[in-house]
Amino acid sequence: MKLQELASKLESDFKLHFQRPPQWIAAAPGRVNVIGEHTDYNDGFVLPMAIERYAVMAACPGASNGEIRVFDTHFKETAIINISGPVTRGEPKWSNYLRGVIAGLQRRGLSIPALDVAMVSTVPLGGGLSSSAALEVCTATLLEAVTGLSLDPVDKALIAQAAEHEFAGVPCGIMDQFISAMGREGHLLLLDCRSRRTELVPMNDPSVELLVINTNVKHELGSGEYARRRAECEEAARLLGVSSLRDATADNLEHARSRLSPVVFSRARHVISEIERTLHAASAFRESNWITAGQLMYASHDSLRDDYAVSCKELDLVVEIALEIGLTGGVYGCRMTGGGFGGCCVALVRTGSVEDISKRIAEQYQARADRSATLFSSRPAAGAAILKR
Ligand code: GLA
Repeated sequence: MKLQELASKLESDFKLHFQRPPQWIAAAPGRVNVIGEHTDYNDGFVLPMAIERYAVMAACPGASNGEIRVFDTHFKETAIINISGPVTRGEPKWSNYLRGVIAGLQRRGLSIPALDVAMVSTVPLGGGLSSSAALEVCTATLLEAVTGLSLDPVDKALIAQAAEHEFAGVPCGIMDQFISAMGREGHLLLLDCRSRRTELVPMNDPSVELLVINTNVKHELGSGEYARRRAECEEAARLLGVSSLRDATADNLEHARSRLSPVVFSRARHVISEIERTLHAASAFRESNWITAGQLMYASHDSLRDDYAVSCKELDLVVEIALEIGLTGGVYGCRMTGGGFGGCCVALVRTGSVEDISKRIAEQYQARADRSATLFSSRPAAGAAILKR
């Protein structure tokens, strides 16, 4: 559904539920990471794009003092957030993404008024497409509309990231919140996670598209594996004598091999090689060199599967099917995207072949994984925006 349609639908659901129209509407997109996986918390580079899937929130001044009431139009569930003091964690679980952002803004001295809010999201949950970052960035954007505050996009992303750390318990990097806040239509975003400098990389050649293939295996980053990978990277950096793996080279790593356990060695090898691949891929995208970009995507997948051990058999199967379809069938490259352990793959494909490729992947996946995949293609979308104020 197009963003404007989604916003209009939410507006009417809001009226039905709260018996009055909303005064403010804000939206923030999910993302797909094209390449640069598990590099953000190592000060490396990432190359994500915002997708045409959004969290949208509508609000009006609240009917009950000291409370923000949030109605989730999909689950038909209401969260009541007490704002008479510092906002704390609470139920339902999804409300923590909003609570964390409200708490972050309170800490900056912003006084948040009582609100009635309705929300909807078309970002698949647990699919590795940053449904939580979309909610966080959407909350911050809605509160900008409500309070008239204008946040610097970097600040906004950092407040959203802190919400994820403190209220959702996931020690994520900065990629998801940055791209949701700063995405630009028709562009990928090359983000240097150390300096936080960004470069927009045009991706508007009509002859190629990015196809997202959801394995429908739910991933849970809170489960501890994500935090373990982070700790292993920190250990590698310490043993290599660098402040982060961004500063290590493949040669440094090779020389230090005897001092690292085989697992920590492999984790570091993934990160160091992935940072390099990401920079090469950004050049390939700038030059519309789809063959090279696609090969780097396959190489990224191999490294995530073998060295970083964050893939799963369903993600591997999708990549295998993509390879079978191959260049002749219109697939340039394919890889798992996001934190891993389930979720989605992203494939770079020839536009004219999208239908055929989607059909073949869906059929093969169903036959070989005995479950169904969900596929969609997306043009690079714009980042968070206020739609009504
Ligand atoms: C999750 C995190 C991101 C990033 C990716 C892996 O999406 O939220 O910060 O670390 O995993 O690249």
